[in-house]
Amino acid sequence: MIIASNFKTNHNRKSTKEFVDFISLQHFFSEVRIFPPSTALDDFDLTPNIRVGAQNFYPVQNGSFTGEIGFDQLEEFGIDTVLVGHSERRHILGETQKDISKKYDFAKAKECEIVYCVGEPKEVREEGIEAVMSYIWRQFDDIDVDYSELVVAYEPVWAIGTGLSASLEDIKEVLGLLRQKIKAPLLYGGSVKVETIKDILGIENCDGVLVGTASWDMKNFAKMIEISDQL
Ligand code: PGA
Repeated sequence: MIIASNFKTNHNRKSTKEFVDFISLQHFFSEVRIFPPSTALDDFDLTPNIRVGAQNFYPVQNGSFTGEIGFDQLEEFGIDTVLVGHSERRHILGETQKDISKKYDFAKAKECEIVYCVGEPKEVREEGIEAVMSYIWRQFDDIDVDYSELVVAYEPVWAIGTGLSASLEDIKEVLGLLRQKIKAPLLYGGSVKVETIKDILGIENCDGVLVGTASWDMKNFAKMIEISDQL
């Protein structure tokens, strides 16, 4: 199982270090991923099943892109796992599928693990599963789904940060349809909580979760990993 925490725009350098050190001290079997803000990236003392990754990057080694970070800045800290296509970058920061596929290809050329996020907005969900899947498949345009270091996260936009998780049946249906074309591990994300993680991890074809809000408290996150370890 892969249990991932996306800090988004939360935690600073000091609290990220406390969080990562706390999680590293536990002995887990699950694969753990932590995505802090880029200002908090550092040389952490990590156990082998824990990786710290980048939430975002500009697809260059270095150059003149004011305000962005490239791979020079990630490689300084040995970062080899990245999030690409998160719904907040697609819908709030305006990244297009073209921008996203450029980032994907760059991270792939760097042989990074890529946690690639897809998911439909509420109005598409209301049209039914066919509309949902055709929306999601378009988010795979120019994306190599056979890349060996790919992890896919299904995150319905309407479930992210809203406290409203998708139903177990809806998650099962989408993951089952993704599984027909994608061999990579499949995660679910969208208001996963300590109280709901066990049932979500029990869904057929679910290989883990990507958690925002409920993971920002290190004890909560440790509890989620513990639950995953017991399955
Ligand atoms: P959430 O965020 O757990 O707060 O819904 C999930 C995500 O955006 O990855």
